[in-house]
Amino acid sequence: MSETRSYPRHVKTDAGDIEFRMMGRADEAAVLAFAQNLPTHDLLFLPRNISQPKVLSAWVNEIERGQIVSLLAVRGGSVVGCGTLVRDPHSWSPHVGEIRMVVSLDVRGQGVGRALSQETFALALGAGLEKLSVQMTVDQQAAIALFESIGFRAEALLRDHVRDVDGKKHDIVVLGHNVAQVRAQLEAYGLPGAVQH
Ligand SMILES: CC(C)(COP(=O)(O)OP(=O)(O)OC[C@H]1O[C@@H](n2cnc3c(N)ncnc32)[C@H](O)[C@@H]1OP(=O)(O)O)[C@@H](O)C(=O)NCCC(=O)NCCS
Repeated sequence: MSETRSYPRHVKTDAGDIEFRMMGRADEAAVLAFAQNLPTHDLLFLPRNISQPKVLSAWVNEIERGQIVSLLAVRGGSVVGCGTLVRDPHSWSPHVGEIRMVVSLDVRGQGVGRALSQETFALALGAGLEKLSVQMTVDQQAAIALFESIGFRAEALLRDHVRDVDGKKHDIVVLGHNVAQVRAQLEAYGLPGAVQH
């Protein structure tokens, strides 16, 4: 899925120099530490709680089987963000990918999330996906603003869809993006190379 884009790559943000690289088995402990430092409320958009070692290990298995691609944002050797592209070529939605993204509290608001969303978006374009979706609890204002700013639009509201550790239920909003349209526009502008590397 990542063959058209090469990593690691470095991006300058207000949080300093961030290295983006593919996540693998060797990152398990660092990603667990990252996940365990996040407020659990910020993990409710994920199907499973990644702050549990078992869930993290299953995630790495999926990466190794090639079912998902996860990009890590690393600063000074610590994981400060993670962006994942999930797709299922054997489902009825082989043309659709889901982006899942989270950034550590201490670097939020400094451009890491924006850079990560651009990297993940580029991976999706490189993989030839036609549509992207993201989902989050409705109170994640930053996430909604970020994805709307790159062209995602609200498509669904799932009421009381997730339950937090205290038993409180939260609504989930699903945003979608017609990536095929962006690709067509880039090509119309004569920029097909823009999606290749
Ligand atoms: C969404 C998230 C990844 C953004 O990460 P970040 O590193 O703070 O993002 P950035 O600093 O790059 O900001 C990107 C955009 O988000 C929006 N944003 C950031 N902080 C915001 C805030 N406090 N309030 C409203 N909008 C905000 C802005 O539109 C900003 O764009 P700008 O830089 O042009 O102003 C981060 O808030 C997060 O991990 N949230 C919890 C997990 C989650 O809900 N993920 C969504 C599921 S995909």
